[in-house]
Amino acid sequence: MKISAIAGISALATTLLLGGLVVAQNTGAVESLRGADIDLTLPADEIHQQKEGREARNYRQQPPLVPHSIGQYQIDLRTNQCLSCHDWTNAGERGAPTLSMTHYLDRDGTQLDTVAGTRWFCNQCHVPQANAPALVGNTFQPSNGSN
Ligand code: HEC
Ligand code: HEC
Repeated sequence: MKISAIAGISALATTLLLGGLVVAQNTGAVESLRGADIDLTLPADEIHQQKEGREARNYRQQPPLVPHSIGQYQIDLRTNQCLSCHDWTNAGERGAPTLSMTHYLDRDGTQLDTVAGTRWFCNQCHVPQANAPALVGNTFQPSNGSN
């Protein structure tokens, strides 16, 4: 009894598997992500350099762009090397802008002495600035007086 049930299940599984393969084969030719033929060598995109100098914000609440490279600074569960310059305890002597108060407020609005967990992964909001063409069109306008 047990054996025949297992045989039944494996026969069903084989049928489903073969069915799946047939469906997969019917979905057409292989296509690259960029839509080009797969044997075509495309030139690599130009490398866009980090843009020097601090950028004006486009609207009041915008996380400022990072005016320096960030590749060398580790951020993980335990380490955040950005804080070695930007935390209020170090910013003065490192000559870096101090994190604003919003970075020390937890989600219940409690003021903390250490950076809030919600602000730990800096590059979730702050990205390095590069002199590069826009990836997509953008017609954003800040509302009057907001910047
Ligand atoms: C070695 C010290 C140092 C470290 C480490 C560092 N920064 Fe900075 N950062 C600076 C300094 C100095 C400035 C100001 C640069 C200027 O005025 O041109 C700055 C500017 C910035 C600004 C612009 C602030 C504004 O108001 O325009 C942001 C955002 C920023 N850093 C984010 C980061 C992030 C994110 C990391 C980690 C990935 C990081 N920084 C690591 C020194 C540092
Ligand atoms: C959830 C988004 C978010 C995260 C995460 C975050 N920031 Fe910010 N940051 C902002 C916004 C928005 C502003 C501008 C408004 C403000 O000050 O709250 C800002 C402002 C700043 C400024 C400028 C402060 C000033 O007074 O001009 C610095 C420097 C900065 N952030 C660094 C960092 C660093 C370093 C980290 C990681 C420890 C970090 N931020 C994490 C959103 C974020």
